[in-house]
Amino acid sequence: MKFLNQLKWKQVLAVFAGVAVAGSVMAVSVDMSREAIADRIKPSAKVRLAGAEVAQANGAAAQEGERSGEAVYNQACAACHTSGVLNAPRRNNADDWEARIAQGMDVLLEHSINGFNAMPPRGTCMNCSDDEILAAIEYMIEDI
Ligand code: HEC
Repeated sequence: MKFLNQLKWKQVLAVFAGVAVAGSVMAVSVDMSREAIADRIKPSAKVRLAGAEVAQANGAAAQEGERSGEAVYNQACAACHTSGVLNAPRRNNADDWEARIAQGMDVLLEHSINGFNAMPPRGTCMNCSDDEILAAIEYMIEDI
């Protein structure tokens, strides 16, 4: 009986000790992983902030119509208007442009915005403002 009692106490103590050890190990590992998570989050949080600033800057530029005619041309028009794909009038080629320019700038702009035969609306630059399209046309014919 005395022996049994002792055994029980030993078991109870062993269980307590086990729980205590397990508990402290868990506590330590939770703390460590919290630190690890904080460390891992830090750089990506900075990257996200930087990305947001860049996105904001781009949005502001688009809203203020800051893209130059050259930039719009290179981005949206050059693919067709440099080589003359589908008979697109080539940049600064007077023969290609004379009759078109004779229509007047209003017509050229209207055709560029709404499309004209194989010329797609806005030259596919759907976030280009009317002013940016106009600047791109002017850049296309600046030396004629
Ligand atoms: C997918 C090819 C393509 C792209 C991209 C493109 N164009 Fe054109 N563009 C054409 C073609 C083809 C014509 C000739 C259409 C015709 O006369 O039948 C044309 C004609 C024009 C004309 C003359 C319209 C007229 O009334 O004679 C202007 C101005 C013009 N494009 C401006 C632009 C601008 C500005 C951009 C870029 C924002 C652009 N294009 C992008 C194919 C393209």
